[in-house]
Amino acid sequence: MPSKPEKDAVTGVETTGHEWDGIKELNNPLPAWWVWTFYACIAFSVLWFLLFPAIPFGPSATTGLTGNTARERVANEIAEAASARAGINQRIVEADLDTIRGDPDLFTYALTGGEILFGDNCAPCHGVGGAGQLNYPVLADDAWLWGGSLDAIQQTILYGVRNAEYELDARFSLMPNFGTDQLLSGDEIDQVANYVVTLSGRAPADAELADAGAGIFAEQCASCHGPGGEGMAALGAPNLTDAIWLYGGDVGDIRQQIWNPQHGVMPGFVDRLAPEDIKMVSLYVHSLGGGQ
Ligand code: HEC
Ligand code: HEC
Repeated sequence: MPSKPEKDAVTGVETTGHEWDGIKELNNPLPAWWVWTFYACIAFSVLWFLLFPAIPFGPSATTGLTGNTARERVANEIAEAASARAGINQRIVEADLDTIRGDPDLFTYALTGGEILFGDNCAPCHGVGGAGQLNYPVLADDAWLWGGSLDAIQQTILYGVRNAEYELDARFSLMPNFGTDQLLSGDEIDQVANYVVTLSGRAPADAELADAGAGIFAEQCASCHGPGGEGMAALGAPNLTDAIWLYGGDVGDIRQQIWNPQHGVMPGFVDRLAPEDIKMVSLYVHSLGGGQ
């Protein structure tokens, strides 16, 4: 190390003392613009740290003097949107279902909201647009287990079907377990299952069995499903004469349902959705095509 830095003969600038193949490295100062930009960045970061949330700290972060966070801004925007909707939501809460249906503004608003609520809360079971799937009824047709009037639909949505949570308020009925409780023999169940196939105008797998099943149906099944199998909304007993099957329409599916019925369960939404939401989703379901 030379005690005094060597100066380059041509430029007069100090060298760093590094030299390669006769080329010396000059020790030029950094350009002033660069140095000031650097200081400005440091100043900016200090200022930012003081004013805004900056350093992660446990589950949150240092808050800064302004306390301004993106999360809070979103919360404010949501609150603003909610208060903008509060007026119309209140009108929905106060109006009865038919009044809402007769008011174009309210009705359009309810259907739009109802569609979103349906997608979030109901579509996992009932399918998009109420298309239904095996074990979950179609809501877009005019075959109803429990009734398709606005009030009947709302009642089903409020308290659900066969759930323990709203026991007394929930829709309730139980098809007997004819097989597992040995109310009918296996042969009798074969007979009545074949008979049920004929109710929807189809040829049974075995006509003799079907004939023998007619009497059993009248005795054991007609009290709920009606003498001709047309169903009974008060008991949620499906119409067996249409081509719409909750649990499948093959003779094997029907046999299975008689042997050990599914007893389908639907949750109630009275504590899960706001009163205006229940009304909106009821109107939406009613509008899907099958409302009575
Ligand atoms: C966990 C699955 C599930 C969810 C979620 C669900 N349902 Fe259901 N729902 C069912 C089942 C199962 C039935 C049929 C029960 C029975 O009677 O056997 C049913 C029946 C119904 C019925 C009666 C249909 C008829 O033919 O009478 C309506 C109306 C209905 N649901 C609407 C809704 C709406 C609206 C939502 C959302 C707010 C919803 N359901 C959420 C499972 C569900
Ligand atoms: C106490 C009333 C009751 C009686 C009695 C009854 N059922 Fe049912 N049945 C129901 C109900 C309610 C449902 C639908 C709900 C469930 O089980 O989830 C149903 C569903 C069915 C289904 C399924 C329909 C579908 O859409 O998939 C078939 C098939 C059926 N019953 C046949 C019979 C036959 C056959 C008998 C007589 C041996 C019988 N039921 C007796 C109430 C009854």
